[in-house]
Amino acid sequence: MKVLVTGGAGYIGSHTVLSLLENNYDVIVYDNLVNSSVESLDRVEKLAGKSVEFVEGDICDKAALSHVFKKFKIDAVIHFAALKAVGESAQIPLSYYQNNVHGSVCLLEVMQENDVHNFIFSSSATVYGEENEVPYVETMKLGTPSSPYGASKVMVERILADMTVSNGRFRGVSLRYFNPIGAHESGGIGEDPTGIPNNLLPYVAQVAVGKRDKLSIFGDDYPTKDGSCERDYLHVMDLAQGHVAALNWLNCNDEFRGVEAFNLGTGNGISVFSIVKAFEKATNKIIPFEVSPRRAGDLPAFWANANKANKELNWQASRSLEQMMEDTWRWQSNNPDGYLT
Ligand SMILES: NC(=O)c1ccc[n+]([C@@H]2O[C@H](COP(=O)([O-])OP(=O)(O)OC[C@H]3O[C@@H](n4cnc5c(N)ncnc54)[C@H](O)[C@@H]3O)[C@@H](O)[C@H]2O)c1
Repeated sequence: MKVLVTGGAGYIGSHTVLSLLENNYDVIVYDNLVNSSVESLDRVEKLAGKSVEFVEGDICDKAALSHVFKKFKIDAVIHFAALKAVGESAQIPLSYYQNNVHGSVCLLEVMQENDVHNFIFSSSATVYGEENEVPYVETMKLGTPSSPYGASKVMVERILADMTVSNGRFRGVSLRYFNPIGAHESGGIGEDPTGIPNNLLPYVAQVAVGKRDKLSIFGDDYPTKDGSCERDYLHVMDLAQGHVAALNWLNCNDEFRGVEAFNLGTGNGISVFSIVKAFEKATNKIIPFEVSPRRAGDLPAFWANANKANKELNWQASRSLEQMMEDTWRWQSNNPDGYLT
C-alpha cells in the first residue's frame, strides 16, 4: 500500500514514516522543507533499512501535487504539512490560513481528482477550544481556539465533515494529538526546531546542552496542583504508531465512509514543573529556570480521554515519562545542532 505523507520530513512526520516503513507501507514524502531538512529522511532510511521517495513541493501547488498522484499510485494520504507556531500564527494569521487551510483544500481537491479517498489529518487538542471541560472527549463540540493556528485546525475538521456529505466515498480520520515529546529511541531522529523552540521539551533540552541560558516557565499561579500548566505529554513514537493504527483501521473497515476523530494522548495531565524535574532526574542535569508572566491564550490544564482510540484503533500510549525524557536527551546530546550536527 502506497501512502503519501505531506510534511513527512518534519518532527512527527519523520517518526511516522519510520513506523510506516517498519509496517511494510511504501512511503512517498511531499514536503517544502519550510521547517525541516531532508537529513531526517536519510536517517529514517538508515534506521528502517528501506528507502523513501521524497518530492520537494508545496501543498498549495496543485500542479506539482497532481504530478505526484499521477506518478505514484497513492492509496492513502497522511497530512502533516502545516505551520504550527501558535504565537506566530497571531502575528501572521493570513499565512497560517493560506498554508494550513488553503493548502489542505488543494490537497483534498487533488485527491478527489485522482480518486483517492483515504485521508488521515493531523489535528490537535486545540480544536476543543476554551469551552470544553477536561478530559476532552471526541463527542464534544468543536470549540473556538484562541489562536489562528487552532482555528485553522477547526476549519479543516469542518471541511472534512462537509466532504463526507459531498463525496460519498470519502474516508477520513482526524487524529487529535495532545503534546508529543521525545524522540526515536536510537537518538537518530528527533525534534529540530528552527530558531527559538516554541515547545517546552526542545527548550529544556537546549538549556541542558548549553544552547540556552535558562527556561522560562509561563505562570506558576494557575489553579493546578503546583501552579504551572498541565498538559498530556505523549511519546512521539506512540503517536507515530497511532497513525499506523489509524491506517490499519481504515484498511480493516472497508464499509466505513465519513470522518472519525480520535484523541491521541495518555489520559494524564503533567505539569511543567514535573517535566523539568523528570528531565533533571533522567539526565542528571540541572535546568535553571525563571517564572515569567502567563502567556495569553494558555489554558491551565487539559488532557485526553483516549478510550475511543484504545477501543477502536487498538492503540494506547505505552511509553513512560522517564523514557520520553531519556529519548529526548539522547537525541539532543547526540545532535546538539539538530540535523546540522
Ligand atoms: N508538534 C505538536 O505539538 C503538534 C500538536 C498537535 C498537532 N500538530 C500537527 O502535527 C503536524 C506535524 O507537526 P510537527 O510538530 O511535526 O511540525 P513540523 O513543522 O516539524 O512538520 C511540519 C512539516 O510540514 C512541512 N510543511 C509546512 N507547510 C508546508 C507546505 N505548504 N507544503 C509542504 N510542506 C509543508 C514542513 O516543512 C515540515 O516538514 C502539523 O500539522 C501540526 O499542526 C503538532
